[in-house]
Amino acid sequence: MKAKIGFIGAGRMAGAMIGGLIAKNVYSKDEIIACAPSEATRNRMTQKYGIRMFEKAADMDDQAEIIVLAIKPKYIGSLFTDEGVRVGKDQLLISIAAGVKIETLRSYAPEARIVRVMPNHCCMVLEGAAGYVMSEGCTAEDKKNVETVLSAIGLAAEVRECDLDAVTGICGSSPAYLYIAAHALIEAGMKYGLTEEQATVLAGQSLVGAGKMILESGMKTEELVDGVCSPGGTTIEGVKVLRDEHLEDTMIRCVDACVKRSIEMGKN
Ligand SMILES: NC(=O)c1ccc[n+]([C@@H]2O[C@H](COP(=O)([O-])OP(=O)(O)OC[C@H]3O[C@@H](n4cnc5c(N)ncnc54)[C@H](OP(=O)(O)O)[C@@H]3O)[C@@H](O)[C@H]2O)c1
Repeated sequence: MKAKIGFIGAGRMAGAMIGGLIAKNVYSKDEIIACAPSEATRNRMTQKYGIRMFEKAADMDDQAEIIVLAIKPKYIGSLFTDEGVRVGKDQLLISIAAGVKIETLRSYAPEARIVRVMPNHCCMVLEGAAGYVMSEGCTAEDKKNVETVLSAIGLAAEVRECDLDAVTGICGSSPAYLYIAAHALIEAGMKYGLTEEQATVLAGQSLVGAGKMILESGMKTEELVDGVCSPGGTTIEGVKVLRDEHLEDTMIRCVDACVKRSIEMGKN
């Protein structure tokens, strides 16, 4: 019997997805297969998740209903041309490979129904954010399956392929920008006498909480800022500094630079 889902590649991203799928009971370990060339990776995956592992992608490519392409983009060409991997018309191909366009994927797997996903690395703690693109020929059931898979590792939004550079800017790369903000908060906390451990817990949880407020309060970010800034209070003094230093413009320029690079890389 076919597995529900098979991963080509079993590195950080595939591991996170497999962990999420099992933890959230989307699929059982018997319904998941994966492959990786190195024995060490195969042993690690078998021990950690109890899934069936293969050495070669070509030995498992027809053994799962959904195939997730989770290897580095530079190896994808040879996977299909040299290793002879085939993804057929009865299979859904979900690619998480950064920058690899649907047109390119279709040239390798012309019959498959293709979905391109841009996730971010927070999926390793099952709090990822991902943009996904359903290509022509995908069915409503495919979409449901993609949403189910992605919901195991966080939240996802369907976008157009032309939006993926923007998705890279505000979700693929943005954890790094937020880590810089967290680093500054931790340094500031230590400057005022907190230990690194205390400052890390407090700054990290503040980012988690702020994210949840954005998603769950139903309030716009401007309202959230106003809600914390009582006149004559402490927060407003800090906010004044951020506004004087044009933090929002800096963040937008940061995303501009990232999106520009993503567009350049997409042309190559
Ligand atoms: N990391 C991120 O934050 C992030 C975010 C968005 C998208 N992505 C995308 O996710 C994909 C995977 O990234 P990653 O960070 O998980 O990479 P990774 O940790 O380096 O894992 C890559 C995996 O691919 C396996 N592999 C290499 N060649 C293979 C082949 N010919 N057949 C089968 N498996 C093969 C490797 O096997 P061995 O273990 O045996 O070497 C390894 O398990 C990439 O395309 C990347 O662009 C990553």
